[in-house]
Amino acid sequence: MQKIAIIGGSGYTGRELLKILLKHKKVEVTKITSENNAGKKIEELHPELFGCYDLRFEKYNWQTIKNNCNIVFLCLPHAASMNFAKETYDSDKIVIDLSADFRIKNIPVYEKWYKVKHTQVELLKTAVYGLPELHRYAIKQAKLIANPGCYATSIILPLYPLIKENLITDNIIVDAKSGVSGAGKKMAMPYLYNEQNENFMPYNPGTHRHTPEVLEILGIKNLTLVPHLLPITRGIISTIYCTPKQGLTQEKINNTYDKYYKNEKFIRLLKNEIYPQARTVANTNFCDIGFKLLENKLILISGLDNLLKGASGQAVQNMNIILGFDENESLS
Ligand SMILES: NC(=O)c1ccc[n+]([C@@H]2O[C@H](COP(=O)([O-])OP(=O)(O)OC[C@H]3O[C@@H](n4cnc5c(N)ncnc54)[C@H](OP(=O)(O)O)[C@@H]3O)[C@@H](O)[C@H]2O)c1
Repeated sequence: MQKIAIIGGSGYTGRELLKILLKHKKVEVTKITSENNAGKKIEELHPELFGCYDLRFEKYNWQTIKNNCNIVFLCLPHAASMNFAKETYDSDKIVIDLSADFRIKNIPVYEKWYKVKHTQVELLKTAVYGLPELHRYAIKQAKLIANPGCYATSIILPLYPLIKENLITDNIIVDAKSGVSGAGKKMAMPYLYNEQNENFMPYNPGTHRHTPEVLEILGIKNLTLVPHLLPITRGIISTIYCTPKQGLTQEKINNTYDKYYKNEKFIRLLKNEIYPQARTVANTNFCDIGFKLLENKLILISGLDNLLKGASGQAVQNMNIILGFDENESLS
């Protein structure tokens, strides 16, 4: 059995990892940390896991993690992750970081968008952007995975094949909507029930922090992302408006998606004018993709669960690849 540590396990992505890894036949969670909830049992913070784990949250202590675990998931906010990753990486563990700290290779870009100094410049060079459908070979060799952002996954997966095959122009607008769990478990005014219930709001139009990672992975210069908060707990729907190059047909788009994703278990290509819905991807590791081609506009629509294909599900998919397990193990 491979032994797992979850650093920052009291939040939502930590909870989802615990739920997934409970089903995994070849790994076990042996350490879980929380600075503010050390000493509590897992079920005190994650009651849906009542009776499933005989573990308590501990304050982070590198020696104990080092002696008890060989794979470390970092479920921490950006800026906190980078220093934890350094200790782990240096002692030859596999690190899967769910934060943004290792996603962007261009340091000035990271520092501008995240407004913090990157302190692990050398480590950043070794990180692999963990989008299995596009980077499987590199992931297999990696020791440090930068697990992609949730919005970013929902935007990159539908756009990548069309950009690589030069089928659309570089004039892309993304209208994205996320459930409130995308913001994590923190207490803050916009995420209170009374602010969200029967409400719907845009935020950070054109300035959302997932924009630079999308640009870097897609190799494009511009993209306008307008995210919105939906009054649901989980799920992202991204509607992407782009301009098709002359002569593009529905058949060509279908064939292109088949070429890249036909054998991908976690990408479902919806054809015949069926479109993704938040409910049909919730609690799954799927990214669903549909599209509509109009005369001068191509509309792509993707849907995924922000906590699974957008975070912990994808993180376990990456771990399975690195360890040579069936990529689908414990995921559905
Ligand atoms: N939520 C999503 O849909 C989603 C999707 C993709 C990626 N992500 C990324 O995944 C990471 C975790 O997200 P989340 O939603 O799980 O967040 P969360 O629910 O807010 O949980 C954050 C965790 O980090 C710990 N923590 C906070 N600041 C810390 C610090 N300075 N040092 C040590 N521990 C600290 C907290 O522990 P305490 O108990 O000690 O407070 C908690 O366990 C974030 O970087 C987020 O951007 C989230």
